[in-house]
Amino acid sequence: MKIGTSTQVYALIGDPVEHSLSPLIHNLAFQSLKLNCVYLTFHVRIHELDKAIKGIKALGVSGFNVTVPHKVAILSFMDEIRPSASVIGAINTVVNDDGKLVGYNTDGQGALAALLNEGANPKGKRVVLLGAGGAARAIAFTLTPIVDKLIILNRTGSKASILAKQLEKRFRKEVEGKILSSKKLSDELDDTDILINSTSVGMYPNVDESLVDRKMIRSDMTVFDIVYNPLETKLIKEAKASGAKTVGGAKMLVYQGALSFEIWTGKKPPIEKMLKVVIEKLKEA
Ligand SMILES: NC(=O)c1ccc[n+]([C@@H]2O[C@H](COP(=O)([O-])OP(=O)(O)OC[C@H]3O[C@@H](n4cnc5c(N)ncnc54)[C@H](OP(=O)(O)O)[C@@H]3O)[C@@H](O)[C@H]2O)c1
Repeated sequence: MKIGTSTQVYALIGDPVEHSLSPLIHNLAFQSLKLNCVYLTFHVRIHELDKAIKGIKALGVSGFNVTVPHKVAILSFMDEIRPSASVIGAINTVVNDDGKLVGYNTDGQGALAALLNEGANPKGKRVVLLGAGGAARAIAFTLTPIVDKLIILNRTGSKASILAKQLEKRFRKEVEGKILSSKKLSDELDDTDILINSTSVGMYPNVDESLVDRKMIRSDMTVFDIVYNPLETKLIKEAKASGAKTVGGAKMLVYQGALSFEIWTGKKPPIEKMLKVVIEKLKEA
């Protein structure tokens, strides 16, 4: 693929963007499918978001991903917000349809695809979700209609209970949202099928941290940690040692990116190749 006058530009906007793996996976996918497209990163500071959006429209950037700190602020710049993003109140993928900006969120579906890919279908299962931040919200809105019971535990208890109430209202289904404590977590994990860590605990550089005591992990449960740096968090290492099925954050990263790619191009990207380069890169790190 030669960059030329007809090359379509896709991008990531955020602050910071330097360590993002998105250019790696999207450029690999564009090249594999021989699409005349390129994916770049733009470092956009919070007070410059409006200028960046004007620039994106003026320059005809075809689509873009949005990361911290713009995932919520970007909502007000959209001409249309798809339900995947409006229910969560955050956008990670935008299509620029001739100046009309359409916002999506692929985090929840990306997490579900990662679970399904590992043979851990959450349908009808009891799921404990740690966290009530942006990623947790996306996962909770995707999983609530599918699972038997969702229990959200968060350091700030009020955020968990507010999220649970929003989910109950939308899906007319009981969802528990409580403050996270070691006792509560231990009690809940007794009969839980799937545990998902969607907090940032265990993320580089705090790689020796985990919210879950190893003794709480049973061999017949699935442990999914959405943190992808390091490739194997302390939680994932301990879950593996306990004989549990594990799902790492790198899978979710690739699947949510793959869904953005499909939204932009209408084509399925090479997921296995994308996962391979992400794993290689994270191993190097
Ligand atoms: N694999 C992927 O594709 C993917 C996608 C998105 C995000 N992520 C990762 O997921 C993590 C969360 O991202 P986010 O966007 O949801 O962040 P966020 O909105 O800032 O939420 C952070 C969450 O972590 C909790 N938390 C932070 N420090 C904690 C601590 N010391 N003890 C207990 N809870 C703590 C917060 O609890 P409080 O509410 O009490 O502050 C909150 O629930 C990050 O590591 C991010 O890199 C991965």
